[in-house]
Amino acid sequence: MSNVAPNAPRLIDPFARPITYLRVSVTDRCDFRCVYCMAENMTFLPKKELLTLEELDRMCSTFIGLGVEKLRITGGEPLVRRGIMTFFDAMSRHLDSGALRELTLTTNGSQLERFASDLYATGVRRINVSLDTLDAAKFQRVTRWGRLDQVLRGIEAARKAGLRVKVNTVALKGFNEDELFTLIDWCAREDMDQTFIEVMPMGDIGNEDRVGQYWSLKDMRATLAERFTLTDLPESTGGPARYVRLEETGQKIGFITPLSHEFCESCNRVRMTCTGELFMCLGQEDKASLRDVLRAHPDDEAPLIRAIEAAILRKPEGHDFDYSRQKPDGQVSRHMSHTGG
Ligand code: 5AD
Ligand code: SF4
Repeated sequence: MSNVAPNAPRLIDPFARPITYLRVSVTDRCDFRCVYCMAENMTFLPKKELLTLEELDRMCSTFIGLGVEKLRITGGEPLVRRGIMTFFDAMSRHLDSGALRELTLTTNGSQLERFASDLYATGVRRINVSLDTLDAAKFQRVTRWGRLDQVLRGIEAARKAGLRVKVNTVALKGFNEDELFTLIDWCAREDMDQTFIEVMPMGDIGNEDRVGQYWSLKDMRATLAERFTLTDLPESTGGPARYVRLEETGQKIGFITPLSHEFCESCNRVRMTCTGELFMCLGQEDKASLRDVLRAHPDDEAPLIRAIEAAILRKPEGHDFDYSRQKPDGQVSRHMSHTGG
């Protein structure tokens, strides 16, 4: 192994954090309408607002040139974007060159039966699949439009294709609290890691469908500790997840508590929306529109590079959910499907 990274980080924020991880939302659309994420009658962005697949390629490639080595594709549901495999295909050249270390995605699993082997072929090795319940009726209640059997077949297809699957579960008191051990046992049997996410106050989702309430992961930990021996793992991915190992089964369980800001110190990431807006922090409204710069200079990357560098210099030290200067409760008005989880 060489000592010199193929792509030394060039994006260093004002708090000396190297930005090496880009999360990109490729669409705001989704074939589900999860109650904590969307209203049932969502208005989506007009197509011309979205970055084209070619623009997504240019944008991501520029970030990779600046030292981004991990790319996560999100949405909305990334696999409902028409032609999205063309984009994954294009990104695989950066895996081949060694500039990109990981290409991954977060998906609701609905399209995995169709795309799992193509994803593997482009170099994707690990994916996150969102799944909150193993009960078909509850699944339909929480996703409104989703079908559990379709997602389970998708997960199966992904594993057959060789993809490692991590299950992401939003913790909802009174909804999936009673399934904690069922979910944990299922993941143990299927050899999948699992991460629980505290529900975040994001976007106008209407109030008509309140499924479950805030379930503190601290309480969940205590419940888990009644049946398992929990060992804290020191590893951090530079994000809000903290991990424990369940000694009895060896499985790794993550907890994402986005409302805490203990993790800000080691933050290594920025997020780009499907319209090419760069959010420097999930919990802040500040953003930089990179799309306009990209479109104004079709043949010259220098202005885009300068715009990215300038944006990174505005990255705040930490987020603001709990002592917000923005909105009551620190609510961020954009939807998760816009910024991409
Ligand atoms: N709070 C927490 N997680 C959310 N997600 C979507 N909306 C919210 C929210 N308000 C999660 C999904 C999925 C990922 C895309 O983001 O469950 O895991
Ligand atoms: Fe779609 Fe994910 Fe939002 Fe559910 S949480 S509506 S699957 S983007």
